[in-house]
Amino acid sequence: MLLAHLSDPHLPSGALAAGPARALHTALGRTAALDVDAVVVTGDLVDRGTPQEYAVLREVLDDAARSMRAPVLLAAGNHDDADALVAAFGGTPHLGGGASTRYAVDLPGARLLVLDSAVRGQGAGRLGAEQLTWLRAELAAHPDTPALLALHHPPTPVGVPFLDGMGLEDAGALAVVVAEHRQVVRVLAGHVHRSTTAAFAGTVAVTAPSTWRQSALDLTVPGRMGYLDEPSGLLLHQLDERTGGLCVTHAVPVEAAAPLFPVPR
Ligand SMILES: [Fe+2]
Repeated sequence: MLLAHLSDPHLPSGALAAGPARALHTALGRTAALDVDAVVVTGDLVDRGTPQEYAVLREVLDDAARSMRAPVLLAAGNHDDADALVAAFGGTPHLGGGASTRYAVDLPGARLLVLDSAVRGQGAGRLGAEQLTWLRAELAAHPDTPALLALHHPPTPVGVPFLDGMGLEDAGALAVVVAEHRQVVRVLAGHVHRSTTAAFAGTVAVTAPSTWRQSALDLTVPGRMGYLDEPSGLLLHQLDERTGGLCVTHAVPVEAAAPLFPVPR
């Protein structure tokens, strides 16, 4: 099982759309070259949550779909609007065929559980009791299938104070659910616009870089919010006989390595 993990494309619409859209397209091209089973994008899909921005996202995904077989699965972030996201992608494979920003997808030998940690009008995230109940039931129903959780807000501090100031408010409640179910092999998040790795509730939590702008690595208190034109990248989560059944995460640079949708190997 190969799952590509992209994040935070922050697509705008209008005159500023070209750069972020091209960056997402390039990252999707890299996943096509890797012949992944699925792609998940962990939120902040667009910048302001407008229907026009989701139309830009649809255009990028539709173009990519002509050259890749893997479904591109979408999670909501604090810059998204769940209603507009569902209006644009409900009933399509991008939301697992359903009409919710919380859904489950079967992958080869694993399950992906997508959660919506966005709270309208605020940067910090929260899952809430209803989603945690759903998650607990999903994990209990498939105890022997490795599970990867995907949400926007990381469930641990990442050491960058301006980002830790808008973290996942009920991370403790999520930790209780995850710790009950040993098949959770990864918690996949975004929000940080950098690659990070941390232990969480007996498993491993990671954040993927942004396909567009990386956050300033400012570890000081109070810290400053800043975003840089650093190289982007993606994470590749591998879980199969080649890894002995372990989940291994590869950090994959994008720009320097990937022509757009190269011919198949
Ligand atoms: Fe973001």
